[in-house]
Amino acid sequence: MTITADHRPEAPSGPPKLGREQLLRAQRETLATARMNYSLLARMMFKPVDLMYGEKGSYTKFAMLEIIARVPYQAWERMGYWAVHRHAGRSALARRIFERIVEARADQDNEQWHLLILQDLVQRTGQRQTWLLHKAAPWMIAFFYYHVSWVLFLIRPDWSYRLNAEFEDHAEHEYMEFVAQHPELDLMPDPGTYAAEYGRYHSVADLLRQIGHDERTHKLDSLESMKEPRVR
Ligand SMILES: [Fe+2]
Ligand SMILES: [Fe+2]
Repeated sequence: MTITADHRPEAPSGPPKLGREQLLRAQRETLATARMNYSLLARMMFKPVDLMYGEKGSYTKFAMLEIIARVPYQAWERMGYWAVHRHAGRSALARRIFERIVEARADQDNEQWHLLILQDLVQRTGQRQTWLLHKAAPWMIAFFYYHVSWVLFLIRPDWSYRLNAEFEDHAEHEYMEFVAQHPELDLMPDPGTYAAEYGRYHSVADLLRQIGHDERTHKLDSLESMKEPRVR
């Protein structure tokens, strides 16, 4: 006898992949939209990043930001398991929490693709990365961000979502502005190293626009989660 499983929480397929025109439109929208009002905590992370990696965008700076981008999703996943365990006696609630865990894992995967793509671009353009700036420092910032994320999530989950929304807003603007400042990227074909998993784009510019749009989707998801920060 075959048993079919119904209503299994499926991992979301991630932010939508856009075509050429949609990517250009997405970039125009971002550039025409003001950045969010960043909190002190967010600025405490952006400032040292600008000081260490320069105010201007670069592949090495973006690769570093992608290392820390997945951290809040990891923190929420961990807190989710703790909550599932705590509410084990209430199966409907535990299932809804588990759905959020699955979502957080899918977002980590998406950020991981960003990191792999950026790291590939760093290698292809022969940019130098040092142990201190590109291994130790991201680790320390990620460590700080991880603990801030889970502690905030414990006391005020809406603040944790808000902090991530700010981080994602920052990333969205950084990518879209970088592409606008480097028109030559529109003439550079997408190397397609991760085409099978992430899609193949017309140019490196479009590839980065897609990543920028993913960040916008992450931001909007976090702002949405702020409305119902605690699963009930
Ligand atoms: Fe990212
Ligand atoms: Fe993101």
